[in-house]
Amino acid sequence: MLHSMIPMTESRLEIPIARKLVHDPAGLNTATWPLPPDQLITPAEQFFTRSHAPVPEIDVDSWRLVVDGLVERPSSFSLGDLAREFPLVHIRATLVCAGLRRNEFLALGELPGELPWGPEAVSTGHWSGFRLSDVLRAAGLDPLANHVEFQGLDQVERQGEQFGFGGSITRAKALSPEVILATKLNGKPLAPEHGYPMRVVVPGWIGARSVKWLGRITLRKYPSPNYFQSQAYRLQPIVNPENPRDVSGGTALTEIPLNAVIIHPAPGGVLPAGRVEMFGWAMGSGGRAVTGVEVSCDGGHDWVPASITRNGSAWSWSLWKASVDLPPGRHTLIVRATDGVGAQQPSSVNDTWNVKGYNNNAWYRTTVDLA
Ligand code: MTE
Repeated sequence: MLHSMIPMTESRLEIPIARKLVHDPAGLNTATWPLPPDQLITPAEQFFTRSHAPVPEIDVDSWRLVVDGLVERPSSFSLGDLAREFPLVHIRATLVCAGLRRNEFLALGELPGELPWGPEAVSTGHWSGFRLSDVLRAAGLDPLANHVEFQGLDQVERQGEQFGFGGSITRAKALSPEVILATKLNGKPLAPEHGYPMRVVVPGWIGARSVKWLGRITLRKYPSPNYFQSQAYRLQPIVNPENPRDVSGGTALTEIPLNAVIIHPAPGGVLPAGRVEMFGWAMGSGGRAVTGVEVSCDGGHDWVPASITRNGSAWSWSLWKASVDLPPGRHTLIVRATDGVGAQQPSSVNDTWNVKGYNNNAWYRTTVDLA
């Protein structure tokens, strides 16, 4: 565990940062929390990692991106081919793991085998790469190609089989300009744990569709049969009593929902009574900007508007801050956000619970003691 102090520029508040959370013995899944305030871009070394298998060793000279399936011209590209044929584009995008805030569900029941992520499985990067749509158009899409499948070069083991992590997105999303085949994060080549030499970045969709160590793109009539599309990362509210962990009947996760989190104060914090400075992030769904953030200190009865201090782009989080006056004692602080079309967050995890604990966007609560 590492602690350091950084100044908060606007309110001169000092908060501890860089608590490294490692959720598994192999160290494949890490995150830093709380995140520093006032920072739209997460430094690459603080970017969370979520990997289902060890980082594969890839020889970049022999690496090729294969594009096949329902295309007119099955193709394969080296990094040099891509750089020669397609323009380099840049996008700021927040990557949100579908398991974000899963730990709040544990009050309702166990979620065996799932990582108990708190609010830390989220980061924002400045990504550079090639538009997926450019590459797909060069290969020529068959009219029946309704889904675009990505396959990674890692080797995941599930149900006695080894295969590359994968999943698919719809043709419409794949042709949207924000979806890129990224080679850089924050201006530097992707680190091995983030998918070197190339990964997909699907802004606005669950992190699992942003496949790392990309090796193959296959155009399909139906969604990917990959385990992580057909049997995991699916939303299923009702437990099948025969096999309660089976979510194959649920719906494959696509867009991340509207969400908002309090970064400071952190849960369990002890603060002086009086004025309490709060800050955090909020993000809309489907590329819609957050239009309002509110905080409550009385269980959601009265709400105080927060101010948005840094506006994210369509595909990245915005940062907000608020201050509230509170007497000594234990207090639960709540945040919620709205977006341009009036979408709201559910008030309780009772409304967001599902079999594998995905996409929790209930009002975020943090309990602190004021002395
Ligand atoms: N791609 C591959 N090949 N293997 C993986 O395990 N994990 C996915 C996605 N892409 C994964 C992957 C999940 S669940 C998430 S949330 C994001 O990568 C995390 O990306 P990061 O580790 O760069 O933060």
